Parts: sequence; structure tokens; C-alpha cells
Amino acid sequence: ISIILSQTKATVSDGIKVFTVATDDTHGLERFLRSARIYGIDVEVLGKGRKWTGGDMNYAGGGQKINILKEKVLELMKSNDNKDQIILFTDSYDVMFLAPIEDIVNKFKSFKDTRVLFSAEQFCWPDSKLAGQYPKTEVANPYLNSGGFIGYLAELSEILNYKPVKDLDDDQLYYTKIYLDKELRQSLKISLDHESKIFQNLNGALSDVQLRSNTTEDWPYIENVVTKERPLIVHANGPSKLTLNHLGNYLAKSWSMKEGCALCTEKKIELKENELPSVMVAVFIEQPTPFLEEFLQQLNNIDYPKSKIHLILRNNVEYHETEVDEFFQANFKNYATAKRIKPSDFISEGEARTIAKDRCVNSVCDYLFSIDSVSRVKPKTLRYLLSSGYDVIAPMLVRPGQAWSNFWGAINSAGFYARSSDYMDIVYYAVKGIWNVPFITNCYLMKMSVFRNTEAKSISYSVEDTDADMAFCSNLRQLGIFMHVSNELDFGHLVNPENYDISRTHPDVYSMFDNKIEWEARYLHDDYNINFEEGRKHLMPCPDVYWFPLMSPRFCKEWIEVMEAYGQWSDGSNNDKRLEGGYEAVPTRDIHMTQVGLDRHWLHILKEYVRPLQEMVFTGYYHNPPVSIMNFVVRYRPDEQPSLRPHHDSSTYTINLALNTPNVDYEGGGCRFIRYNCSVQNTKLGWLLMHPGRLTHYHEGLRVTKGTRYIMISFVDP
Ligand code: UGA
Repeated sequence: ISIILSQTKATVSDGIKVFTVATDDTHGLERFLRSARIYGIDVEVLGKGRKWTGGDMNYAGGGQKINILKEKVLELMKSNDNKDQIILFTDSYDVMFLAPIEDIVNKFKSFKDTRVLFSAEQFCWPDSKLAGQYPKTEVANPYLNSGGFIGYLAELSEILNYKPVKDLDDDQLYYTKIYLDKELRQSLKISLDHESKIFQNLNGALSDVQLRSNTTEDWPYIENVVTKERPLIVHANGPSKLTLNHLGNYLAKSWSMKEGCALCTEKKIELKENELPSVMVAVFIEQPTPFLEEFLQQLNNIDYPKSKIHLILRNNVEYHETEVDEFFQANFKNYATAKRIKPSDFISEGEARTIAKDRCVNSVCDYLFSIDSVSRVKPKTLRYLLSSGYDVIAPMLVRPGQAWSNFWGAINSAGFYARSSDYMDIVYYAVKGIWNVPFITNCYLMKMSVFRNTEAKSISYSVEDTDADMAFCSNLRQLGIFMHVSNELDFGHLVNPENYDISRTHPDVYSMFDNKIEWEARYLHDDYNINFEEGRKHLMPCPDVYWFPLMSPRFCKEWIEVMEAYGQWSDGSNNDKRLEGGYEAVPTRDIHMTQVGLDRHWLHILKEYVRPLQEMVFTGYYHNPPVSIMNFVVRYRPDEQPSLRPHHDSSTYTINLALNTPNVDYEGGGCRFIRYNCSVQNTKLGWLLMHPGRLTHYHEGLRVTKGTRYIMISFVDP
């Protein structure tokens, strides 16, 4: 901002001066000055660095703006004999220019009999009792607003010097009283821009104003659909500030279908390897989280020197503590500094997040990268965020296949989620860019200098009865600190912890529906996709017995452990209460998937991963989804049931997945197809045998002589 500020100066050349008052370098001012720059407007910022004594702008106040402007106008009156000098004044924290100054001046000059034009709005603020005194109240925007006006120096000087005004007095009330004085109004030729020909105030006018872009226009603009005007300056007075944050994503040549995201490149910083900023990576594990192991690994993979990272690793879930602590002990030495917050510290989420922020604010760190365990981000994300140039920015993360993300496009009056008109377009990458939004969560980068002033230092995540991030974002909105989300690139996604049931053995293996990406990465065989390579010759150890890599060793291990933890193996007798008829002709020692809550999961594996293999090799047979009533893990061991007598399966085809390894975990074992006198004994971990169930493939389970053999069996399409 400071760079832009130092460049701004008043323009004398064209006889028009543009002023604003801004005591602080806010994000709103930065946006305002950018819009001025886009339209080649030279603005002189008045009051910079002064203490704001104009009151809390949620209530009446703002008299200070008059006093600051008055000083300037006095100066001009002394130094300037051109009393026809035109002056444009606007607020700045919530204002954007939408057109060049020539258009604004020409529009102003088209107002008949007018030497001073004030913007107009729908509310008679701050004193609604004055409404009756207005000359025209039946028009679109009957009442004066002081956030924008344009007029000639002589008349403006008279208005500003009409009466003393205190900094705390209300500027709008001051101008309103002058306007309502009929004599003054007429002698000074004051008019109101009722139709928003120049000034569009947004408060109360949200349904009147529409963001438009048409094919002939390169850049989006706003139209007042009531007055049919296309305003040249927009002002988000009062509570309409967030609307401008939204519109500002597009207006003033910020974004267009044709040009894309101008805001994405304008602030870009080049990261110099030898001067990389120091970053606190603050990790929050607030809830039982699927695939936490991969999450922790991802922290190690962040593409940034660890000597520049200060780590805070906060876990508030006892279930994860051993794993988290092991990770910390193994890795903490690599970081510049590292700190743990454990479940046993009994610190609330809000407190923990505030501790991390304050630690960063009060130390040497330049940025805080806050990352929750549900976030799965690509290694380059941190560098992208740092180089974006934005002070508070989140990478967009979405739950795959859902509209659930780590940002809100809008917010309702109660402070909760509301869907912005562009929310789905952003989530689905139909529009790409960097978006000013009212709420971000789960993963974001913050530049710490923004949080080091007195007001921002008090920002906290702990507000009673409020979710920590909601409290924090609400604080930022109050202070006018803009939050952004970027979907310029694909940065990763969110895992879904909603149905994660830690009472299960290996709950991740159950998480296939909610977290497909992680599940496939961990549990599908590394070579699964090779099955589908063009021209691939599938292994066939016996006639019409196909052999495919399907599940990973990790899957097999966890699958066995789920069964053993459950432990209720059948007794191997012909009586089986689990079956409809209660009778099993060829019994094994087994556990059915229904018993461990994995039947739905296994059927999904059959449909998603096994069926395509079957369709490749047994061509012309299509059954989708495959039906299978019997899905079970069999355990063979010498002292229990070591083998299975020859039999047919009641299936169209049978699959037989090796869950452990011969000559490592057991000796003997395998499957013999009697008609072909062919045995498969060197079964491979995670590989699947697939063969017809009846007639030709009469088969037996060979004797296990040592150890325990586990296989997963399905009788598909019985
Ligand atoms: C609205 C009107 O736009 C103001 O002109 C009017 O003074 C106010 O209502 C009122 O009648 O009370 P609003 O837009 O809601 O004010 O308030 P802000 O935008 O927060 O503040 C007005 C302007 O004062 C800012 O845009 C900025 O130009 C200046 N300001 C405010 C500072 O320079 N420093 C501050 O700390 C606060």
C-alpha cells in the first residue's frame, strides 16, 4: 500500500482534483487506490497517518473527514484563483471507481443547474426524522449520503465553512442540514444523484444493483436495474461492506471471462531463495481425522526449507496422540523451532489457535501458515500463497464431489454460511482467480505484519459460544482485513471426517466412501492400473484362472487385523446360523464381511475395482453391480482347518484374494483345479485369482502345513 500511496498526487492539469480521507493503510484503501489507478485517476489521500477521531463508523460520526477536507480546500482557495476548479470527494475504505474521471466529470456537468452533487441513498441517516423535510421523497434514492460528492471549489468551500463541526459529529448530518436548508440548497445549487448516474450507494440497494458482463464487454460492470444507470463510483455504505468485497472481485477490471484474473498477478512477489521469509506452520488436529498418517507425511513434504519453519503441532485427539508424538519426536529437530500442544494440556481450540497466532506475532516470524488435519495440500501450496502477495489467503480446498469447501462466498445476517452467486462456479473452477471472501478456514496463510498494530493484536479465536474460525474471521471483518481464497490452481482437497468411527479397528479402511482419494492411494495395489494397459497380457496360472494385482500389502495387513480383532471365526461345522438355510455343505473357518461391518465396502470394491477386470477377461458378461451374498475371509492353519475338500462354488465367478504370503507367513496351501490338475501355490500378496465357479473349475484348498494362511473370497453372481 505504501508504494501506491507515495505515488498518489493531485492532478492540476485537467482542473479536477480528487480527494479522499484515509487515516490508515487498510485493505479497503488499497482496493480504492487500485481502482483509481486502473482508470488513471490521481487521488490525493488526506489525513494519512493521523489518528482517527471520527468515531466508530458503525454509528454516527465521521466529522473528522469534513475537517480534514476543509483544511485542504482552504489551502486551495488561497493558492488558486480558479473557483471553477472541480473537486471530487469520496470515502475510501468502501469505495471503488468504475470509470475514468472524464466520464465522471461529464456526467456531473450533465446535471442541470447543479454546482454541487451529493450521492443519494435509500435511508435517511443518521436522523430519520429529517426525512419529511426532503423536497423529493418519491424518487429512487431520496436521501443525501456523504460518502461521495462532486462540485465546484467555491461552493464546496462555502459548504465546508458553513459551520464548525466536531470530529465526532456526523458528517452526513452536517451536509444533510445544509441541503435541507432551502435557501442554501438553491443558492449553492446542490443536487442529489437520485438515479445513481455517478454514485451508487449499496446499502438498501442490493437488489437494485446487478453485476453484469455481456459478450461485447470485456469487463464486468454494475447496472442499477431500477434507474437503468451504469454507476461510475460504488460505495458500500454502512452494513453493505461485504457486498463490495464480493463485487470488487470483478469490478474495476479485476476479473473477466476473457482476461481472467487480473488480481492474481498484480501483487505477485518473487521469492528469493536466499531471503525466504520465516513461516510458522501451525498444525491443528481438532477431531479424529481419516488418513492422519498421510497428513503428517504431507507436513514433511511442504516445499520450503525447514530451517525457515517454526512448527506448532497441536493435537486435541487422544486417539491420535501416539502417532502425532512419534511424528514430532522423529521430525522436530529439522525445524527452526518446534512446539507441541497435547490433549493433556487441556487447551481449547480457540486458545490453541490464539497461542499460535500470538507466538507468531510476538516473534520473528513473517507469516503464519495455519493448517488443519482435514486439509490435504500439495507441496507447492505454501510457496504459491507466499508469492501471491496477499496478506490473508487460503488455497481453495473442497471435499471431492461435494460443495463443501474451506471458504464461504457470503455470510448471512446471523454470521453463518450463505451461498454467494458465484460460490459453485468457484468451487467447480468454472471461474478461477483470487477471491475476497468473508470466511476462510482449515488452511490459510497470514502475513504477520498485518496483525502487529494495536487493534489487530487483540484479535482472538476465543469467543464464547462461537466456533474458533468464525470468531476469528468475524474479528477480521470488523477490522476491515480482507480474506481471500484462491482457486487459481488445484491445491489439494479436504478429507471428510464426518463418519469416521474410531471405535473400529483400522477405521481408515472403512473410510472408502468419504475419502476415496486417500483410500485408493493407501489401499489399492500400486500396479492396479497396469491391469488396464493396452495390450497387457494377463497372467493365467491355470486355464481360465486369471491373476491380477488388486489390493496393497497395507490393505491385506489391515484387513487381517480387522478380522483377528473381531475374532469370532466360524467353527467349521455344517451348521451356520449366518446363512439363510443354516447349512453349509463345504464349511471353512471364516468371518463374513457383514460381521465386521465391511459388506457394503467389499461390494463396492467388487463393483469399482473387480468388475472391470472381469469384463476384460470374461468378455460379454456384464453384471453391474456384481451380486455377492457370500464375502468372507478364510483362515487355514494346521491346528484348525488346514485345507478344503474338492467342491464347486455357487458363483458365476469366484475371486480369491491372497491376504498374506506363502513361505513367509505360512507353508503349503494354495488352490488346485482338479480338471486341469493345475495348482496355484505361489500366490502373491494383494493379488486376486478369478475363475468360473462351477462345472469346469472343480477345485480344492491345499493343506497348510505351518503358520496361518488368510484369503478373501467372494462368490460373485451366485
Ligand atoms: C457512511 C457514509 O459513507 C459516511 O460518509 C458517513 O460519514 C457515515 O456513513 C455516517 O453517516 O455515519 P461508512 O461508509 O459506513 O459511512 O463508514 P466507513 O467507510 O467505515 O468510514 C467512512 C470513511 O471515513 C472511510 O471510507 C474512510 O475514508 C474514512 N475513515 C474511517 C478513515 O479515514 N479512518 C478511519 O479510521 C475510519
